[in-house]
Amino acid sequence: MSEPVKVLFVCLGNICRSPSAEGVFRHLVGQAGLADRIHIDSCGTGNWHVGKSPDARALAAARQRGIDISDLRARQITEQDLDCHDYILVMDRQNLADVKDLWHQNGGTEPALFLSFGTSSHKEVPDPYYGGEEGFEQVLDLIQDAGEGLLNDIRERIG
Ligand code: 4NP
Repeated sequence: MSEPVKVLFVCLGNICRSPSAEGVFRHLVGQAGLADRIHIDSCGTGNWHVGKSPDARALAAARQRGIDISDLRARQITEQDLDCHDYILVMDRQNLADVKDLWHQNGGTEPALFLSFGTSSHKEVPDPYYGGEEGFEQVLDLIQDAGEGLLNDIRERIG
């Protein structure tokens, strides 16, 4: 069997959006029976929260949808991430600019907006950190929709 397709989700802190994306997409991939074909990880462009669990609001919102992300720990993106992942999917345009800086220096896989795989008019996953709990629901809705599109894209790739 061929190497797993490697997907990396990137946000700013790696405690709200990208660990939520990792959890939701892992759930979708598991339901599709493709867990051994698709490798999933997440990280942040910043280093403030390295080693921390996801934000309590992100944990609670995911748990309400039957998804446990409590084992995830924040880490910062490295140059190596650009070399070893097939998809580098960022949450907003600031993440895109930051990861593109690294990509221009390093090469590797070009980052893209995760919501480019979605059907929503939103092209960015809004940062929920300074807002209320409803922001975390919107994050999960946007991620679920784009995750389904991403899974279809990967299915076409792996045949
Ligand atoms: P995330 O959210 O990028 O979705 O993990 C944030 C988490 C922390 C901060 C900003 C955004 N912060 O400024 O500490």
